[in-house]
Amino acid sequence: MPADAQPRTPPDLIAMKAAGRKIAVLTCYDAAFARLLAPEVDLLLVGDSVNQVVAGRETTLSATLEQLIYHACAVRRGSLDALVVVDLPFLTYQVSPEDAIRNAGRVLQESGAQAVKLEGGVPMAATIRALVDRGIPVMGHLGLTPQSVHALGGYRVQGRGEAAAGRLVEDARAVEAAGAFALVLELIPSALARQISRELTIPTIGIGAGAGCDGQVLVLHDMLGLNEAFRPRFLKRYAELAEEVRRAARAFTDDVKAGRYPGDEHGFE
Ligand code: KIV
Repeated sequence: MPADAQPRTPPDLIAMKAAGRKIAVLTCYDAAFARLLAPEVDLLLVGDSVNQVVAGRETTLSATLEQLIYHACAVRRGSLDALVVVDLPFLTYQVSPEDAIRNAGRVLQESGAQAVKLEGGVPMAATIRALVDRGIPVMGHLGLTPQSVHALGGYRVQGRGEAAAGRLVEDARAVEAAGAFALVLELIPSALARQISRELTIPTIGIGAGAGCDGQVLVLHDMLGLNEAFRPRFLKRYAELAEEVRRAARAFTDDVKAGRYPGDEHGFE
């Protein structure tokens, strides 16, 4: 693909890594933001973080397939030519490869997205292979895998210590060997993420995994400063929209109560 072209397909992302081009990913959950973001980033991820960020739930565990398809459809309507990847929610792919094929197939068929993302390494390799063999592109996700938050004992850094790091490397190799086109690495030591990124030919997309990854992903509402309570070390805020939203709401309320809005110019003859 041309050096400055935006990726349109999963194989384009592998070509970007081969060409040494970094990959920028943001989560996106609706058409309004998709219109704004699609020209600026390489990939839009309809993450199951929507269940926390938009639906206000504690974890991603209660996200449903219908919910993710609903948001993926909205994102596609906002950006018909963007590369869109959709998270498979908890229990839509872990029970059996047959389940995974049916559910991932529905996501692609009903939303028009190009790929799905799922969490897990060696234990999920057969499922990734089953999807890829049926023409469904898969992005893997290792390290802090939020659908396993209870088993992991919370949202904490993974892959610390020789044994845990070794298991993560094995998981990453298994995800690549199973045919995934990219791999999210969440909350793992930077040196380990760099080592995995060097070893794999598919791109790694880091979040809290340091600069050695082939790309980076952030949750949109976090990087826009809309979620003020969330201040992890890895997060860089590129805007402070929470304060802007409050300021606009206050100004509107003041105008309405003082009779300054609407003005004559906002009315009709
Ligand atoms: O659901 C999500 O937003 C994600 C990203 C944090 C990678 O999986």
